[in-house]
Amino acid sequence: MAKFIIGTSKGLKGNVCAGGCKNAILPIIAATLLTEEECIIHSVPPLSDVIALCSMLCDMGVSIQFDEKKESIQIKAQNITKLKTDYEKAGKMRASFLIMGALLARCGEAIIPLPGGCPIGSRPVDLHLKGFSALGAKSQQSHGFIHITSKKLQGDKIYLDFPSVGATENIMIAATLAKGVTTIVNAAAEPEIIDLAEFLKKMGANITGEGTNTITITGVKKLFGAEHTVMPDRIEAGTFMIAAAITKGDVVVEHVREKDLKPILAKLSEANVKTQKLDENVLRVYTTTKLQPISLKTMPFPGFPTDMQAPFMSLLSVIKGTSMITETVFENRFLHAGELQRMGAKINIESRSAIIEGVDKLTGTQVKATDLRGGAGLILSALAAEGKTEISDIYHIERGYYEIEKKLTKLGADIQKVE
Ligand code: EPZ
Repeated sequence: MAKFIIGTSKGLKGNVCAGGCKNAILPIIAATLLTEEECIIHSVPPLSDVIALCSMLCDMGVSIQFDEKKESIQIKAQNITKLKTDYEKAGKMRASFLIMGALLARCGEAIIPLPGGCPIGSRPVDLHLKGFSALGAKSQQSHGFIHITSKKLQGDKIYLDFPSVGATENIMIAATLAKGVTTIVNAAAEPEIIDLAEFLKKMGANITGEGTNTITITGVKKLFGAEHTVMPDRIEAGTFMIAAAITKGDVVVEHVREKDLKPILAKLSEANVKTQKLDENVLRVYTTTKLQPISLKTMPFPGFPTDMQAPFMSLLSVIKGTSMITETVFENRFLHAGELQRMGAKINIESRSAIIEGVDKLTGTQVKATDLRGGAGLILSALAAEGKTEISDIYHIERGYYEIEKKLTKLGADIQKVE
């Protein structure tokens, strides 16, 4: 199994470019099933989650050309020959559940494995199913699969008990071809939802309110092929910003959208990390004086993003003083804390809160990536740690960060990937 070997890397310097956003790409790929015409999507890094979802669509008869060099993908779901996804493949990646809405709307049926829990939580799909049943679908679970069917979907008003990103995306996709109007109340307002809505509207969908907590979709008869460039990945950008801060470097992050980064920039500035807007999509991140301990609470957008919790914990673990993190979105998203403690971090977990006593230095050792963002957090700690760190199970990290070791090496980091 591949590993990252990382040595102390003080003062990262230079320019790094964030890639296309994984959490916008996945629902957009799912949405291409809504039309038999060709869709072209740009700014798609060949992340393992993207490859996995494309492979699932190919198994269903969808034709896909992925130009990995140009990071663009052509998808044509002219004939969907299978409505059941592979148990093994779908079980590995939660986002596979996002194709349910599109299959329901296009074919009136889908047989998809329950997207089993993952390290950070049980990851239920009750809100997805609540939305689909409001649109007239009937579902049952057997042998680990959800079998869902519907005649023509009928628009309705749907209240989400929690502003679930995936449920909002799945219901929005299904509602584009439903009869009548669908209103999603307490919808997620993440930037990725806006990007998906942009793509759906290019296909001919009628959507308003995306980016707010009430989204209205008026069903149309047919959707058409479209071309779209995916938004920049705000979490990858945020991860590189923390890399600059934790190594007391001076890094220019390109291909960012400042409006998506507001909650991250707010907390970086509270910690005394300096940021400077150099251009519309270019931010400089550097440190001048001592960094300050802070408290942060993860919340649905526009609150602080849960996906930045682990990277931020790494930074706070080396800032003198007491910091506090409260994770309100997922029930088990502190797994990385145990690995950080192996490096000398002083972290006390009490249910959904982590109390962090900043230490002068972390020391390198052997650690395991526990999940995607927890793994990214370990890379950040290793850059600041004294001595060598070896991170295993890096397949978690490669789900959401394309060639992160090459990007960090360009900034002066001492990081190698060894098979
Ligand atoms: C998306 O996951 C992202 N993944 C996650 O990013 C991100 O952390 C999360 O949104 C929150 O922003 C993708 O977009 C592929 P949710 P999703 O549904 O849709 C509960 C990463 O690292 N819930 O908003 O699964 C759920 O248990 C990944 O890139 C229900 O109770 O997140 C959780 O506690 C990790 N019932 C909370 O809502 C449901 O039917 C938020 O989940 C659905 C969700």
